[in-house]
Amino acid sequence: MDTHVSAEMGIRSRQRLCLPFAFVYLFVVSLETHLTIAVDSISPVQSLSGSQTITSQGGNFELGFFTPGTSRNYYIGIWYKKISEQTVVWVANRETPLLDTSSELKISEDGNLVLVQQSNIAVWSTNSASGTRDSTVAKLLDNGNLILRDASNSSVIIWQSFDHPTHIWLPGGWFGLNKITGERQVLTSWRNSEDPAPGPYSLEIDPGGSSEHFLMRDRSIRYWGSGEWNGRIFSGIPEMRLYYIYNFSFIDDDKAKYFTYSVYDPEIITQHEIDESGQIKQRTWLESSKRTLGKSSNVHWANQATYIDG
Ligand SMILES: *[C@@H]1O[C@H](CO)[C@@H](O)[C@H](O)[C@H]1NC(C)=O
Ligand SMILES: *[C@@H]1O[C@H](CO)[C@@H](O)[C@H](O)[C@H]1NC(C)=O
Repeated sequence: MDTHVSAEMGIRSRQRLCLPFAFVYLFVVSLETHLTIAVDSISPVQSLSGSQTITSQGGNFELGFFTPGTSRNYYIGIWYKKISEQTVVWVANRETPLLDTSSELKISEDGNLVLVQQSNIAVWSTNSASGTRDSTVAKLLDNGNLILRDASNSSVIIWQSFDHPTHIWLPGGWFGLNKITGERQVLTSWRNSEDPAPGPYSLEIDPGGSSEHFLMRDRSIRYWGSGEWNGRIFSGIPEMRLYYIYNFSFIDDDKAKYFTYSVYDPEIITQHEIDESGQIKQRTWLESSKRTLGKSSNVHWANQATYIDG
């Protein structure tokens, strides 16, 4: 009995002794993780894995692994760094979830940005570059656009996430048709709040239309149209006149035709989303300055508008 008790006490005191070391160890490890990738770029000598992230220069957006809701699947995504509610704006491997974070996001030997598993199998790739390993770098911009560019000439952009939006259209992003490559931007809903794989609803500009407007589809069936663009608003969305915070424009030149928008007040955090129920939502992040005893009140996404009633 006595020996048992003293043995247990021995273990306890050893545990107590170890604790400060554990803290120091954890501190050093987390310091190291944050020091390794405290930048906005992924280069051939700097890949990303585990809990590492990169942050855009002004601190608006962050890129790394995330798990949606209570899902156990991991995805590479981009989310707002400055707001408290995790809000993912773009997903790389939306159809190929990973079971852990042992994969690596890196520049491959052919210059593409790839997500590879330990076995070096590519789960996702930008699939665009034809350069060599030393010639590209991926950079997360402060507007949420992830670009893959030539390392020696920053004006040569090989691939960018704004050309491949998932479910969200951010200010500064575009939405339309590349006349040279034939590539179109199509926003597609998530399957549900825990599965970013493409759901049934999609939004695109009318590919065959003579006038400019948006089309919403449920699988392939059209179920909503925005009406024609009159230079300021769509005829089918008269409410647009009320939303003074956005500056929409339609660009049509020899390379592309697309819609884009900016926000008059660049401090406003806002987005357009195709949600899982097939609605187009304009959402704005509201952060009231009022605080109630240690916890900030009224911090949430507010729906500015829903284009399609459901
Ligand atoms: C960078 O690329 C652009 C576009 O291809 C080209 O016009 C420019 O001359 C290049 N600059 C250098 C320094 O090579
Ligand atoms: C609205 O956007 C267009 C196109 O980007 C730009 O030329 C124009 O100056 C903007 N208007 C205002 C008031 O910011």
